[in-house]
Amino acid sequence: MTPDREGAGDGWDADSYDAGHTFVFERGEAVVDLLDPAPGERILDVGCGTGHLTDRIAASGADVVGLDASPEMLEAARETYPDLRFVLGDARELPVSGPFDAAFSNAALHWIPEQDAVLESVASALRPGGRFVAELGGQGNVSAVVNAVRAAASARGYDVESPWYFPSVGEYATALEAHGLEVRYATLFDRPTELDDGDDGLAAWLDMFGDDLLAGVPDDERAAVVAETEHRLRDDLFEDGTWVADYRRLRVVAVATPD
Ligand code: BEZ
Repeated sequence: MTPDREGAGDGWDADSYDAGHTFVFERGEAVVDLLDPAPGERILDVGCGTGHLTDRIAASGADVVGLDASPEMLEAARETYPDLRFVLGDARELPVSGPFDAAFSNAALHWIPEQDAVLESVASALRPGGRFVAELGGQGNVSAVVNAVRAAASARGYDVESPWYFPSVGEYATALEAHGLEVRYATLFDRPTELDDGDDGLAAWLDMFGDDLLAGVPDDERAAVVAETEHRLRDDLFEDGTWVADYRRLRVVAVATPD
């Protein structure tokens, strides 16, 4: 799921995302609980992907708009939830007019290095007192995976850079405050995450999410780098037939202060 990946409409496979990575929205239900949506509230779901959590928010009676930068994801969301409103757009320049009572985001914002632009546009879409409830990858998220990919690529002469934004509590709280969002809750926690697909789980995860990470590896070398990555990680991250990725989540609640 991504709201702002460069070149929107660029190969997100919504079917495979829904079939093979259900943990993304299943685990996100706890973030909806934290949002605690109420009937009649206007809520923006930033980076809604295939819309499952948008639907969970709507079930509360809230008036919710799902936003995503991927046409493929939105097409799937609209097909599954024809009664909900989904808008194609960039979280750095929200194409929907507020004010919203709340903005919500799960597992999307770490795709956007320009987080200041996101927070600026989220803050300006909220009414004074409106809340921002979000979860994203936090500092150290999937670092074992990234380090193993880097080592495997480097052994073949290729450089790998993490494309993701995984802030610490301090860094993110500072950014929130800089945009008039008062931090009421912020926590960073380990959340080891079982990947679907058994022995193929890590390769499937890299296939779904790793294009930018593996951008420096030529296509015809990619399978070898993935195999070497699996080899390096198997002792630590493969348990009882399942890959368990070293996810770390940053979860925040912040409130828009009056200008
Ligand atoms: C995450 O949800 O933490 C995540 C998903 C895909 C790539 C990187 C991080």
